[in-house]
Amino acid sequence: MNKEFQLTLDDVGSNGNQNIETLFALANGFLGVRASLPIAEEGCNAGSFVNGFYETSDITYGENAYGYAKQHQTMVKLFDFRTIELKINDCDKFTLSSRQMNLDMGKGVLQEKYVYTTSLNQEVQIEIESFASHKNRSVYAQKWRIMPLNFSGTIGVNKQAVHIQPNKVREDDPRKKESSAALQIDEEKVQTKNSGQILYYRFDDYQSEKLVEIGEEISFVQCYEMSKTPLSSIKIDYEVMKEAQQTIFQDFWSISDIELEGNVQLQKGIRFNLFHLFSSAGRDGKTNFSAKGLTGEGYEGHYFWDTEMYLLPFFIFTQPEIAKSLLQYRRNILPKAKERASELGYKGALFTWRTINGEETSAYYPAGTAQLHINADIAYAFELYEKVTGDTKFLSSAKDVLYETARFWLDYGFYSKRGFELHEVTGPDEYTALVNNNYYTNQMAKNNLYYAVKLANQYQEYVEEAVDWKKAADAMFVGYDEEKKLTKQDDSFLEKEKWHFEQTPKEKYPLLLHYHPMKIYKYQVLKQADVLLAHMLFPRGVEQEKRDFDYYEPLTTHDSSLSKAIYGVVASRIGYEKKAYDFFKESAIMDLEDTHENANHGIHAANMGGCWLGLIYGFAGLRVEGEEIVFHNHLPKEFTSLKFRYLHKGNVQEVVLTQDEKTNGDFGSS
Ligand code: BGC
Repeated sequence: MNKEFQLTLDDVGSNGNQNIETLFALANGFLGVRASLPIAEEGCNAGSFVNGFYETSDITYGENAYGYAKQHQTMVKLFDFRTIELKINDCDKFTLSSRQMNLDMGKGVLQEKYVYTTSLNQEVQIEIESFASHKNRSVYAQKWRIMPLNFSGTIGVNKQAVHIQPNKVREDDPRKKESSAALQIDEEKVQTKNSGQILYYRFDDYQSEKLVEIGEEISFVQCYEMSKTPLSSIKIDYEVMKEAQQTIFQDFWSISDIELEGNVQLQKGIRFNLFHLFSSAGRDGKTNFSAKGLTGEGYEGHYFWDTEMYLLPFFIFTQPEIAKSLLQYRRNILPKAKERASELGYKGALFTWRTINGEETSAYYPAGTAQLHINADIAYAFELYEKVTGDTKFLSSAKDVLYETARFWLDYGFYSKRGFELHEVTGPDEYTALVNNNYYTNQMAKNNLYYAVKLANQYQEYVEEAVDWKKAADAMFVGYDEEKKLTKQDDSFLEKEKWHFEQTPKEKYPLLLHYHPMKIYKYQVLKQADVLLAHMLFPRGVEQEKRDFDYYEPLTTHDSSLSKAIYGVVASRIGYEKKAYDFFKESAIMDLEDTHENANHGIHAANMGGCWLGLIYGFAGLRVEGEEIVFHNHLPKEFTSLKFRYLHKGNVQEVVLTQDEKTNGDFGSS
């Protein structure tokens, strides 16, 4: 057993039950199951989810306005597959005496061992082995062994899937949300009331009552099946499926593993992050990757730009088939994006900020719909996919996404004497809203327009329109303060008063939970990387990037988990090695150590992708230049070596960085 691929409770910072449920959760892109205790305790939050299985309800506004999002979309919390009802002689009350968990990330299997004690000091051991099958994604399988440790007696077992009843609590934290919904459940399917979704299921319930001697055990296997289409009657063989699981995980790691020598904890953090990325990504072209994966109900299971800008680089470079299905999802919701643009009075398509079914579900438009950059983020990801994989076939089937987003920009922006401008937008930094010419948005929109022009010329379609797209891209205004020699985050940012950090006690962070937007928006204060994210994608030279880093980083609260990883990448590239190391470290252990104190809501998926960016775009300095993938060794002195693989146009490439080979030059593969 390779220790480096094993996650145990010793590796985890907080042993709170809800944290453990998230960190040890199992998922396969279709379903996810939180690793809750077999015997429920106060404060547990057991449950399972199916990607894209959601319920809708009307959003009630105190003051409504035209075009506001109309409906909540909420990933439904489904069954608790983990709770067991146990009886020893007449006793059904137990105290948990010991707990061991071992997530074998190398094989995609979770092993657990518990000892429970009755008031008469009878000890019973429970062992569970489980996995969310990647061979047959409708299956979550468990194998149980129950044995008396110091008594002989009658052991009664009742193990059934339990539906978790909705529990309405008012939440003031916008990052959490109630995910349970009243379901109509019959013998073979569950149905949501409003969204009309159907999920077929088949569960192996288990019941027994036996006299068991010390040394004997009760053992049984359970397969829980859920599917959006009627289930086939093929019998599942647990052992065969487990074998397949191991092969699939071996294949995954053979390409996607990263070996970082010099710090065992960070190495574990990296593998943990990659494990969850592989586990929660939708695979069917109709679902995506929710901000918390399939591990928790935070952000209601919504898909954001997180996928395109934080997760897709990892998938594009190491698991292109998954990347393709995540992009296919965007292609599939293009009609909704066209409807949304039209509803807002614009041509083309506008992808929604938060969504499951393609419709906008963000009720707060200044930090939601106004983040128009999502259009360009999606375009950027399609382009990166094409460049790295060479899969022009897929692009030719999805190029409408690029044309329609380009049409939107052309209609949304306008010409002034300064160039082509984009007003009233919100960039990635959600502590600054509804501004003119957000630098990131304008750079990304420009890139979006150019890529649409390239495709139009290549496929000889819409060539006349493409002339206008190119004109707008050429004229795109980007703000720069000549006096301060700084990139302007937007037209007004540098004119604002700076946030009074010295008067802000620690407990007032994250600011969004303690200050009204009218306070936050008025100041120079960032929630997350904005200009620097643009620099990561469109480098502006070390001197400029340093100046911008020195200016914007101290104004950044990093209240968003999407922030540090990006600052880390840029820090690597501009030679701020210590900062690069520190930021990377935090992104590697964010969930393991629960540094944002909300891992109980689910993993921070974007940060997990950010961890990959920190290593590959940061330490290894990866850049895509034309047809070439170029690297630069920025390995911090804390590490002796970094080794990873990636796929370029179908060919596996391996990169090894060491301290000895640290040179100033670029190297690459084409
Ligand atoms: C960030 C967004 C992100 C969302 C979901 C927010 O805190 O500001 O950029 O998309 O979380 O992860």
